[in-house]
Amino acid sequence: MTEKFISIEGITKRFPAPGGGTTTVFEDLWLSMARGEFVCIIGHSGCGKTTVLNILAGLDEPSDGTVIVDNQAIEGPSLDRAVIFQGHALLPWRTVMGNVTYAVASKWRSMRKDKLQRHAQKFIDLVGLTGAEHKRPAELSGGMKQRVGIARALSIEPKIMLMDEPFSALDALTRGTLQDEVRRICLETGQTVFMITHDVDEAIYLADRVVLMTNGPEAVLAEIVENPLPKERKRTDFHKHPLYYGVRNHIIDFLVSRSKSFAAEMNERGYDRRHVPVARPGAPQVGSTRPATLDTTDPGQARGPMPVVATGTAMPAPSWPGLSPQVGSTRPAALNTTDSGQARGPMPSTSLPDEERRGCPAQGRA
Ligand SMILES: Nc1ncnc2c1ncn2[C@@H]1O[C@H](COP(=O)(O)OP(=O)(O)OP(=O)(O)O)[C@@H](O)[C@H]1O
Ligand SMILES: [Mg+2]
Repeated sequence: MTEKFISIEGITKRFPAPGGGTTTVFEDLWLSMARGEFVCIIGHSGCGKTTVLNILAGLDEPSDGTVIVDNQAIEGPSLDRAVIFQGHALLPWRTVMGNVTYAVASKWRSMRKDKLQRHAQKFIDLVGLTGAEHKRPAELSGGMKQRVGIARALSIEPKIMLMDEPFSALDALTRGTLQDEVRRICLETGQTVFMITHDVDEAIYLADRVVLMTNGPEAVLAEIVENPLPKERKRTDFHKHPLYYGVRNHIIDFLVSRSKSFAAEMNERGYDRRHVPVARPGAPQVGSTRPATLDTTDPGQARGPMPVVATGTAMPAPSWPGLSPQVGSTRPAALNTTDSGQARGPMPSTSLPDEERRGCPAQGRA
């Protein structure tokens, strides 16, 4: 990667602490993204993910550092950057159609009303809300409200989509459908996406890279996991790929243990905030079973040489698709699924159990 479409440069966020002084939520974060890239960020509740996203959206300012988008420092919100919020953030007095057309009209101010409505309708249909156009948010379920938020964000065809757990409130079926749609639209339109999720499988299905954030306070970006699965993966069978369990176990392992003890690793491995280590789970092992450092140039940060760790079990890879060896035995014991009532269907959910999500002492979920 040579182009830095989005460049997070040394951002820190401090808030006033209750008893005086300040709390540093995260410190000196560096990350760059290429145009058209889909990046997911995973970390425990309260580590600062939403704050990072709000800074990218221009809705919040860093205490230190800056974010450059398309060679310009962010100075506030822009219609080129659409946000799908963790809450729904709909206009309560407007209907579904009204909420979406309002956004479309802010982007294309001279668009005629009939065209506005046709454009909005396309995205309302896309998220499965056909027939609910005239309902107001109070008449909608949580999942339906979230779908309006998704339709609204997609309808302005932004260059960058910033998504804060956009699918977390949805039932499994709707979630899967929307994941497919969002992925398809993003690939087709070349959108650049920064998405927060707690769902490991969602990240593996959607993301080109998964950024792992440590627990706060003073959270850091611990590692960037490059998704080893082929880009043309499908929701129905990506979990059968021979590298799937390697990458999944690597991320779960981080969330369950390394996210809490990363400070020790930082000292041990000579961690450099500007050159966040890149992990390629499933890449050929070099030597020991511990993460090995390879001499490689980091394609993720586009900033020159940096450590790359190859982790996980290198499976004797049959060709993809049509895989034979079942690697399910590597399923980690520590993992609970949030929808354990669901059969192990096409899109197994691997959100962390609540006690793990609360790993950061700072606060509960928004
Ligand atoms: N306006 C504020 N004033 C003081 N502290 C704040 C403010 N906004 C956020 N925080 C604190 O910053 C930390 C990070 O919050 P943030 O919402 O970014 O976390 P998160 O990683 O998105 O969590 P979750 O996964 O639960 O959504 C939390 O400890 C929170 O209490
Ligand atoms: Mg959040």
